[in-house]
Amino acid sequence: MHVIAMLGQKGGAGKTTIAVHLAVAAQQDGVAVALIDTDPQGTASSWIKSRTAKNPTSASAPPIQVHAILEVARQSGISLVVVDTAPHADVGATRAVEDADIILMPCRPTAFDVAGIAGAVRIARVTGRRSAFVLNACPPRGYEPPQTARFLESLGYPVAPQTIGQRQAYARATASGQAVTEFDPRGTAADEIRTLWNWVKDTFANEETASRHRDPSADGEPPARPGIPTAADAEGQAS
Ligand SMILES: Nc1ncnc2c1ncn2[C@@H]1O[C@H](COP(=O)(O)OP(=O)(O)O)[C@@H](O)[C@H]1O
Ligand SMILES: [Mg+2]
Repeated sequence: MHVIAMLGQKGGAGKTTIAVHLAVAAQQDGVAVALIDTDPQGTASSWIKSRTAKNPTSASAPPIQVHAILEVARQSGISLVVVDTAPHADVGATRAVEDADIILMPCRPTAFDVAGIAGAVRIARVTGRRSAFVLNACPPRGYEPPQTARFLESLGYPVAPQTIGQRQAYARATASGQAVTEFDPRGTAADEIRTLWNWVKDTFANEETASRHRDPSADGEPPARPGIPTAADAEGQAS
């Protein structure tokens, strides 16, 4: 099971929008998805209630319960959990994201948004989890998105290669209890969300390959046995 957590102390950056869109894109890709809404404002939970579709399943809970809910999700056969968080940079936000396989920090390409990103970066560092920025609500033209991307990268985390545009489709889709990949599956917004999801999925796959290389027992192979007996082996034989 993998966990994506949204993080950012600035309201309006796009945490909930990206959380629900990634959840639906993954679900449509055949993944069993659950969404945990830790924001007391309950935006993601209200969206879930407004849906006619049964999936993704969801839970609304304070950050302190995230760890336990992830265990339940794991045992229930869920393959991906998306954790949406409140616009805070506090101990609660840390709790909510510390089990993530990837922390996503959405940021709009504006001076105010960039100025508000430091709190999220601090938390990402504290957790030591893999983290990345997502440039959200980008205008179709202008120097601001690439300039913002350069600045964000200087903070030590990558920017997801797929940026998300400022598009009416996001608000329209969510207003009708949908995601853009359901509301207008052939639209540009749907394309960019699917590409973002594929990037996250590739990140998980690459991490798994890397960890198999680090730990040969991870893919079922017995661990390599050294040819030379260790001191413990010698002790075992002596007793
Ligand atoms: N890429 C986008 N294009 C257009 N509107 C967006 C986009 N991302 C977010 N919004 C809108 O901005 C507002 C805040 O987004 P939201 O996801 O709730 O932010 P957060 O969860 O970080 O507070 C919502 O009204 C949402 O519809
Ligand atoms: Mg939100």
